[in-house]
Amino acid sequence: MLARSTTLFFLGLTTLAAAGPTTEAEASALLGEAECQPYGYQPVTNAILAKQFPPIWVPVPSLQNDTDALAKFRSIEANIPKIAPKGENGVPSNTTVYDRAADPDCWWTQAQCVQPKAAGVKPDIFNVPEPRTLGYGFDDGPYCGHNAFYNYLSQKNQKATMFFVGSNVLNNPLQAQRAVADGHEICVHSWSHAFMTAFNNEQAYGELYFTMKAIKLVTGYTPKCWRPPRGDVDDRIRFIAQSLGLDNVMWKYDSFDWEKGLNGVTEDTVRSNYEKLISDASTGVLNTAGAIILAHELSNYTMQVAVDYYPKLAAAFDHIVPIAVAFNKTQPYAETDLTMPDFKQYIAQRPASSSNSSSSNNSNGKGDGKNDSSNSTNGKTSVSGASAAIVVRPLSTGGILLATLAVAIAML
Ligand SMILES: *[C@@H]1O[C@H](CO)[C@@H](O)[C@H](O)[C@H]1NC(C)=O
Ligand SMILES: *[C@@H]1O[C@H](CO)[C@@H](O)[C@H](O)[C@H]1NC(C)=O
Ligand SMILES: *[C@@H]1O[C@H](CO)[C@@H](O)[C@H](O)[C@H]1NC(C)=O
Ligand SMILES: *[C@@H]1O[C@H](CO)[C@@H](O)[C@H](O)[C@H]1NC(C)=O
Ligand SMILES: *[C@@H]1O[C@H](CO)[C@@H](O)[C@H](O)[C@H]1NC(C)=O
Ligand SMILES: *[C@@H]1O[C@H](CO)[C@@H](O)[C@H](O)[C@H]1NC(C)=O
Ligand SMILES: *[C@@H]1O[C@H](CO)[C@@H](O)[C@H](O)[C@H]1NC(C)=O
Ligand SMILES: *[C@@H]1O[C@H](CO)[C@@H](O)[C@H](O)[C@H]1NC(C)=O
Ligand SMILES: [Zn+2]
Repeated sequence: MLARSTTLFFLGLTTLAAAGPTTEAEASALLGEAECQPYGYQPVTNAILAKQFPPIWVPVPSLQNDTDALAKFRSIEANIPKIAPKGENGVPSNTTVYDRAADPDCWWTQAQCVQPKAAGVKPDIFNVPEPRTLGYGFDDGPYCGHNAFYNYLSQKNQKATMFFVGSNVLNNPLQAQRAVADGHEICVHSWSHAFMTAFNNEQAYGELYFTMKAIKLVTGYTPKCWRPPRGDVDDRIRFIAQSLGLDNVMWKYDSFDWEKGLNGVTEDTVRSNYEKLISDASTGVLNTAGAIILAHELSNYTMQVAVDYYPKLAAAFDHIVPIAVAFNKTQPYAETDLTMPDFKQYIAQRPASSSNSSSSNNSNGKGDGKNDSSNSTNGKTSVSGASAAIVVRPLSTGGILLATLAVAIAML
C-alpha cells in the first residue's frame, strides 16, 4: 500500500555515460552514493523510444497498439466475470453502491473476502500453510535506495518476495536486477499503483501485462504472482490476473508502515503492528498455519523498521520464507531455467531463522551485495536457500550509444 500523493517530476532527457551502466555495480561506481540519481539503461531507453510501454506512473489508458497484448486480451475477454468497474481510470467512484453483507463480487476492500464467488477463480493466498512460518514480502519496489536493506537481507541469508510496480522497474531497472540476483522472488504489483477495481477490463489487463513485460525486459524473467495495490481486488480482477498466469497474494498482518505520518498512524502504531505479529507467533496463534506480513520497500523508514524488527521476527518464528518457497513453487517464473528451493530444501539449506548465518556473506562492502558466481548445471540456474548467486540473463544492448532516458521519479 502506498500513500497517494504522487508527484511526478519529469526530468527530461538525462545523459549519462556513453552506453549507460549495465549492472548495478557499474551504476554505483558511476553514481557513488547517489543511489537515487536517475540513470539511463539502454534496454529500457530503447523500449521507451520504441513506444513499447505506456507512460510511466500514469494509469494504463489502454493496450494501445500492442498486438500481442490485444490478442491475448481478446481471447479471454468474453469469460471475464460481468462485474462493473468500481470507478474510472484507477480512481474509485464515491457513488458505487455495494452490498457489503452479501459481498457478491468478493471485493476485498469492502469485505476482506479471499474466497472467490465467481466460478473458476482461484482462491487468494493470504497465509502460509507451514506452522510458525512467516511469508516475508515487500511491496512497491524496486526502490532506488534499497541497497542497505538488500545488503542486510543478504547478510542474514534471507530471501523475500518483492512485489514490484512496473513503473518503478523501468525507473530502477538495475535495482530490479539485484532482487533477482540476490535470490528474491519477484511478483507484480501493477503498473501505476492505482485502484485495480476502478479500471475497465482492458486497462486492468494492461496494468498487469505491462508490468510483467517490464520485469521480463530488465530481469529476463516473467513473474507468476501478483498483489493488488491496497488489496483492491474483486472476482473480475482476480480472473484477469489469473488469465495472465498470476496467483493473487494477499496478507494476514499489515504493518501499516507505508502510512506512518498519515491518518494518525505513528511509529508507535507500526511498532505495535509488528509486535502483534511477534506476540501471535510466540503465543501459539500461528501454530496451525503461518502468516503473511504486508510491509514495504518504499522508503528509508519502511525498510529500516523491517531491519529493526527482523531479529525479533527471526526469534519468534521457526522459519521466514518467500511466498513461493512456502508453497513449494520451485519455478517462480514462466521461464524454467531459474528455480527456487521448495520449503524443505530452503529450511535445510539455511540455519533456523533465529540463528546467525555464518556460511554466507554476500555483502561485498560496495553496496551492491552481488556475487556473480553462478551455480549452473545443465543450463539450469538455481537459487538455493544458502547461496544467492545467480547470473542475471544477458540483456540485449542495442546500437544506440547515447543513453538518454526520460525519467519520471515518483515521490511517494
Ligand atoms: C502506439 O499507439 C500510440 C498511441 O496511439 C502511439 O503514440 C505510438 O506511436 C504507437 N506505437 C507504435 C509502436 O506504433
Ligand atoms: C463524490 O466526489 C465528487 C467529486 O470529488 C464530489 O463532488 C461529490 O460531492 C462526492 N459525493 C459524495 C456522495 O461524497
Ligand atoms: C536509512 O538511512 C540511514 C541514514 O542515511 C542509513 O544509515 C540507513 O542505513 C538507512 N536504512 C536503510 C534500511 O536503508
Ligand atoms: C511442501 O512440501 C512438503 C514436503 O517437502 C510438504 O510437507 C508440504 O505440505 C508442501 N507444502 C505445500 C503447500 O504443498
Ligand atoms: C548473532 O549475531 C549478533 C551480532 O551480529 C550477535 O549479537 C548475536 O549474539 C548472534 N546470535 C547468535 C545466536 O549467534
Ligand atoms: C560481511 O562482509 C563484510 C564485507 O567484507 C564485512 O564487513 C562484514 O563484517 C561481514 N559480515 C559478517 C556477518 O561476516
Ligand atoms: C563469490 O562466491 C564464490 C563462491 O562462494 C567465491 O569463491 C568468490 O570468492 C566470491 N566472489 C566474490 C567477489 O565475493
Ligand atoms: C550447484 O547445485 C547443484 C544442484 O543443486 C549441487 O549439487 C551443487 O553442489 C551446487 N554447486 C555449488 C558449487 O554450489
Ligand atoms: Zn503497494
